[in-house]
Amino acid sequence: MLQIEQLTKTFGRNNAVDNATISIDRSMMIGIIGRSGAGKSTLLRMLNRLEDSTSGAIHFEGREITSLKTGEKRAWQAQCAMIFQQFNLVPRMDVVSNVLHGTLNRRSTFASLLNLYPQEDIHRAIDILERLGIAEHAPKRAEALSGGQQQRVAIARALMQDPRIILADEPIASLDPMNAQVVMEALRRIHEEDGRMVIANLHTLDTARRYCDRVIGMRDGRIVFDGTPEQLTTGVARDIYGADAGFSEAATSTEIGALDRVGLTPVTA
Ligand SMILES: Nc1ncnc2c1ncn2[C@@H]1O[C@H](COP(=O)(O)OP(=O)(O)OP(=O)(O)O)[C@@H](O)[C@H]1O
Ligand SMILES: [Mg+2]
Repeated sequence: MLQIEQLTKTFGRNNAVDNATISIDRSMMIGIIGRSGAGKSTLLRMLNRLEDSTSGAIHFEGREITSLKTGEKRAWQAQCAMIFQQFNLVPRMDVVSNVLHGTLNRRSTFASLLNLYPQEDIHRAIDILERLGIAEHAPKRAEALSGGQQQRVAIARALMQDPRIILADEPIASLDPMNAQVVMEALRRIHEEDGRMVIANLHTLDTARRYCDRVIGMRDGRIVFDGTPEQLTTGVARDIYGADAGFSEAATSTEIGALDRVGLTPVTA
């Protein structure tokens, strides 16, 4: 379904992503973990063509992605919607207009101010907000919502594009544990109910283990682990994060008590 082949991105003399090969044969929820600077964001950005690769290839259902140009590239970007740590909403615009933005290109921002959306799109936006449990906030300004609610608005905006893949770059890094859980559960549900692939950069091990079918570990631009949450043992995690870093699982946990729930023993370095 999605094949990443020897993908490399070089900035100056630094390989941000170094010869990454990943083969995904069906829609899954995938977590990418690794220390700061490991190359997680660069990998996601190359996937949706926000960043050009230096070498290598990406195939989605047989089609080569890295060489797509103009209209085809934009169509691909609509098919793999991106969600960011900082939500990237228009803060002073109401929630439903933010969601409707998912259907428009930049040129139409003005139309949005004039409420020039097809009735059908407005209904769909409300339905999606309903599904995410935030329809009651539809008329409010985005900035009036909590972080967790804003991230769900960003997910709703992504869903308006009806994407095949949702790429999430640290979607819960700015959220408290409660909101983090709500957002991860929303992504999981979207994956299970719609069959959309979700690829999320996560900075905590426990989140990757709890919500993902498959976990990819990156270190210094390279893929150093690719397996199931069960295979992601403490020893493997230590290798991904660097044994010399005073590694402790607790330090990579979003949630107090999360380790207990997944039956893992916190390790001290
Ligand atoms: N536009 C850029 N120009 C130069 N170097 C860059 C650029 N973007 C990323 N890098 C470098 O590439 C490497 C990988 O960065 P990347 O942002 O992909 O890491 P990351 O795993 O997402 O880290 P974090 O967890 O901090 O978000 C780092 O060494 C970073 O400094
Ligand atoms: Mg990053």
